[in-house]
Amino acid sequence: MEVVICRDDQEVGSVAAARVAQVCRDAGRPAVLGVATGASPLSCYAALARRIAAGELDLSEASAFALDEYVGLPRGHEESYEQVIRRTVTEPLGLDPARVHTPDGFADDVEAAAAGYERAIAGAGGMDVQILGVGANGHVGFNEPSSSLASRTRIKSLDDRTRRDNARFFASLDEVPRHCLTQGLGTIMDARAVVLIAQGAAKADAVRGVVEGPVTAMCPGSVLQLHRTVTVVIDEAAASGLALREYYRETYAHKTAWQAFE
Ligand code: GLP
Repeated sequence: MEVVICRDDQEVGSVAAARVAQVCRDAGRPAVLGVATGASPLSCYAALARRIAAGELDLSEASAFALDEYVGLPRGHEESYEQVIRRTVTEPLGLDPARVHTPDGFADDVEAAAAGYERAIAGAGGMDVQILGVGANGHVGFNEPSSSLASRTRIKSLDDRTRRDNARFFASLDEVPRHCLTQGLGTIMDARAVVLIAQGAAKADAVRGVVEGPVTAMCPGSVLQLHRTVTVVIDEAAASGLALREYYRETYAHKTAWQAFE
């Protein structure tokens, strides 16, 4: 796991985008991205959009698979992740909407939709890079604490903390769905590279659990310790609970040229 501690959100976005762009260039085919909703990856998406505008990156043929979707919202709801991904990823990065997928949380048969999503990811050749945020309780995607570390895309119940955290997008807590479809931890682990992004003191405990805690279903993101190619890009506040933060800083500052991705 490589941990990069950045001054601020702007730098988090640039460093994360540099790593994503490197993986896309190295993919040897139109890249397949895993994309997250939430505030954490927005500066990364903005930095990717700048790279595309500058002609440094071409995602015109890329595909994308969103991590998750609420179950229980009407199709077209502004806060459905289908719409959030359209606004924050598809349009700013100029992706072909036909190649951007979200789990179908509106389907009558959500179990069949989950299985179909796994087939679609496999059919695209798997994800080259999965962009992740992390919930304050350590969730990635909507894999809440106690999720199977081997799980695949499936329906999950949202935990109370997550519903309260996401209530800011709805008129009241009652309107926040109780269920979702989410890529499983096993699905996420199959991505060839992972870039996890977190900012702010509210994420410090989760980041410590993901990077330095025991691998445990109680902190679902900690499963990433078993992945070979993870880059964790965080700001100072999110890094504040890390025991080895000086080591991570030294390591990044003294990377050899061939290891650099900027
Ligand atoms: C949400 C999403 C996650 C996201 C996380 C953190 O509920 N399902 O994919 O990474 O919570 O969100 P934020 O980045 O807004 O803090």
